[in-house]
Amino acid sequence: MTPIYQTSTYWQASPGQHKGFEYSRGTNPTRKALEDCLAALENAKYGLAFSSGMGATDAVMKLLAPGDEVITGNDLYGGSYRMFARIFANYGIKFHFIDFSKPENLIQHINEHTKLVWIETPTNPTMQIIDIEAVAAITKEKNVILAVDNTFASPYLQNPIDLGADIVMHSVTKYLGGHSDVVMGALMLNDEKLYERLWFIYNACGATPGPMDSFLVLRGIKTLHLRMKAHCENGHQIARFLKSHPKIDKIYWPGFEDHPNHDIAKKQMRDFGGMLSFSVKGAGLEETFKTASRFRVFSLAESLGGVESLINHPATMTHASIPREIREEAGVTDNLLRLSVGVEDIEDLIKDLEQALG
Ligand SMILES: Cc1ncc(COP(=O)(O)O)c(C=O)c1O
Repeated sequence: MTPIYQTSTYWQASPGQHKGFEYSRGTNPTRKALEDCLAALENAKYGLAFSSGMGATDAVMKLLAPGDEVITGNDLYGGSYRMFARIFANYGIKFHFIDFSKPENLIQHINEHTKLVWIETPTNPTMQIIDIEAVAAITKEKNVILAVDNTFASPYLQNPIDLGADIVMHSVTKYLGGHSDVVMGALMLNDEKLYERLWFIYNACGATPGPMDSFLVLRGIKTLHLRMKAHCENGHQIARFLKSHPKIDKIYWPGFEDHPNHDIAKKQMRDFGGMLSFSVKGAGLEETFKTASRFRVFSLAESLGGVESLINHPATMTHASIPREIREEAGVTDNLLRLSVGVEDIEDLIKDLEQALG
């Protein structure tokens, strides 16, 4: 097993003459083993681990300068929206939040200031699928960096770099860690110059994770394929159960043939994952809260991607930082609940849904 190098600094034979490790904010052997592993999972040359998914996103945004413009989706993780709209917008960076259901929509928003396109697919929490290959064809032609938040799919289901993306971002906290015991982020990429710029930001700004967390994620990754298979199998069964339930209004899961982006999901993903959302027919906020609180096997909590099933109320939890009109337009209504389907026995999960939905 990779040792946990609980080491902040390293011996030097003479000033500057070291064995590849100098100071752990920049390099640590346990973290380096993890970064090589993360890069391999996304078929990338380089991996960089950060102390959270937001730390990784922050580093990408620091590639930009005042006056630059970013085009991103209108259905994003709430924390990403908050960072773009409330932090980087104040530093003179302009964000366009657009609908990516037709990738060609992108073209009309690109101008000479556009430096970055940032997409998330499947989107959180309405499970829309963006055609990465089609978006990458446009960004390549216009010489704009394409970054893809691949958290929901995990590298087991989707590899954006193979589809033309320049940077893949993960909240490692989720499927890669897999056990809800670590907060971490990562960037994976192929371009050496871009890697050097990101490594400079990583070391200069210092949002890098410690060796114990790196070890835990290395251990989690050993079972990524086993866990993802179980997440997907349980996801299929729960989606079908909810589809036939009389209390369910809309259900968002890309595995259904009538999902608007099913064909793209089939083309770019190997399965449909363990994330799905549904709305409770005619329920207001109070009734939706009551439903969410009745679950016993699903835990009501933020986050996703761990072996234990979670239920979440996006409007007041993960997406609370998005103004109501914007989130409702994206389908994040008060009666929407999101499931992160875990790897437990499917009968226990279905029974829990039956008793909670009534
Ligand atoms: C899609 C997505 N991206 C990014 C993040 C942020 O990651 P972290 O919580 O590790 O900072 C999350 C967290 O929920 C997420 O769901």
